[in-house]
Amino acid sequence: MTIESYAYGWPRTDLAADPAWSLEPSGRFRSRAMPESREQLAADSRWPAFFPCPLVLVTTRDGERVYLEKVVGASVVNRFPYTLALSFCKDALSERHYVRRTFMEALERSGSAAVQFLPPGPGLDAAMTAILEGAEEHSDRRIAASGLATRPARTIDAPVFRDAHMVYECRLVKPGKDFEGKAINARPYADVGSHRIFFLEINCIQLRQDIARGESQIHWRALPRWWPHLPDAAGNAAVSEEALKRLGYVKGYTPNYAFPSAGTTAFEADGVEDGMAYRALAPLPEDQVEVDNDRARWPCFFPSSVGMITSFTADGAANVMPCGSTTIVSRHPLVVAPCVSYAAINDRYARRQSLDDIRRTRRFGCGVPFIDERMVAAIRYSGNVSIETDRAKMANAGLSLASGGHTPIIDEMPVHFDCKVVGEILLGTHVMFLGEVERIFVRADVSPDNPLSWIPWADVRPVGQENT
Ligand SMILES: Cc1cc2nc3c(=O)[nH]c(=O)nc-3n(C[C@H](O)[C@H](O)[C@H](O)COP(=O)(O)O)c2cc1C
Repeated sequence: MTIESYAYGWPRTDLAADPAWSLEPSGRFRSRAMPESREQLAADSRWPAFFPCPLVLVTTRDGERVYLEKVVGASVVNRFPYTLALSFCKDALSERHYVRRTFMEALERSGSAAVQFLPPGPGLDAAMTAILEGAEEHSDRRIAASGLATRPARTIDAPVFRDAHMVYECRLVKPGKDFEGKAINARPYADVGSHRIFFLEINCIQLRQDIARGESQIHWRALPRWWPHLPDAAGNAAVSEEALKRLGYVKGYTPNYAFPSAGTTAFEADGVEDGMAYRALAPLPEDQVEVDNDRARWPCFFPSSVGMITSFTADGAANVMPCGSTTIVSRHPLVVAPCVSYAAINDRYARRQSLDDIRRTRRFGCGVPFIDERMVAAIRYSGNVSIETDRAKMANAGLSLASGGHTPIIDEMPVHFDCKVVGEILLGTHVMFLGEVERIFVRADVSPDNPLSWIPWADVRPVGQENT
């Protein structure tokens, strides 16, 4: 079994033959207007374009019943309190997007859930088959159908799979205050379009002991694979390398992530039980705050990707900030949700210039980067330098602009979502912008023959063992 067997490609069909998409005058992008009609959705409710999201398994317990569901796009959305967002369909759109009523009701009643990860292989396949084949109203029969063994979690009622290599135990967030004294988390969920987003505070993280010890590693490919076929417009690959050298030290970034490794945090366990190292997180956000830049890092790996969030400054300069906490929270309308830091805690968590610009313009763009040296250099540059100090940030990141959107479209990105802000949710250190997609741009060299390739699961391997 190789991790590659879990890869899927987008698009499956040729956009050139689809009347919803039209070629932009430049010939470099195709675009389509959003949202679709209900009829179009009922016929095909797959996402109209690709955004890289991880998949997770979630269990919750309600009395004697234990429920299992899969969630696309689970995302860490806030640092203090340490918060996960899980989005579930609440309005029936199609056979694919059916209402997750049973699971949502159980989650609301129990107030807690275990978000967990199984290594790719027979266990994961059995869990996924049980979910895909087990009707929603019987989601309490899925664990039995999977044939997988479970054990109790440490801090919540929901059971966890014995085969899980990583578990996040969470509870629905409680009302509180942020660092400026503003009210946060008045409700533990928000209804956005066709979906309900639940916000869960992480109480405890479990990590398989061999991974915590550094004997095995989690491997996560954080960006899709893709190969541009069109020649570069104007961008200059050497620029960002030069600009990075001038800066001296900047935080590294690699889309080929291995955890734990030299560049990551080590997992600081409180103890070990059932072969799992565990760490409890302080229940109060005030006690969780680590002002030291390094200690404020995420305490453990959680799979995420990067949205390249673009906006215009007050004087018309195009900006881009890489945003790891970006996910899709609603299918109809399609809503992209980047989480942008607004709290001034330290260098790592400081207020972003993009925050003010997105609030002022009520718009942002979201580009999808891919695995490529030049992209990595662009992410490192634009993710370490604020436009406040470099007005030519986009060019110095080696990126060039394309025309056609209400937001800056980066010519090098294969997919761009042009979004209108329809809401924002204050979470404590980060604000979740809700961006309704008005238009999608896809490079003309993205096709079924040259698709974006993405693996929504992380792999786990002993150190030194290659992907087989
Ligand atoms: C890989 C990566 C992921 C990031 N994710 C986030 C994020 O989720 N939220 C955030 O506020 N900042 C994030 N940042 C930091 C911002 O991109 C960075 O502070 C940027 O320079 C802000 O630019 P601005 O001040 O011009 O808006 C990330 C940086 C990198 C390199």
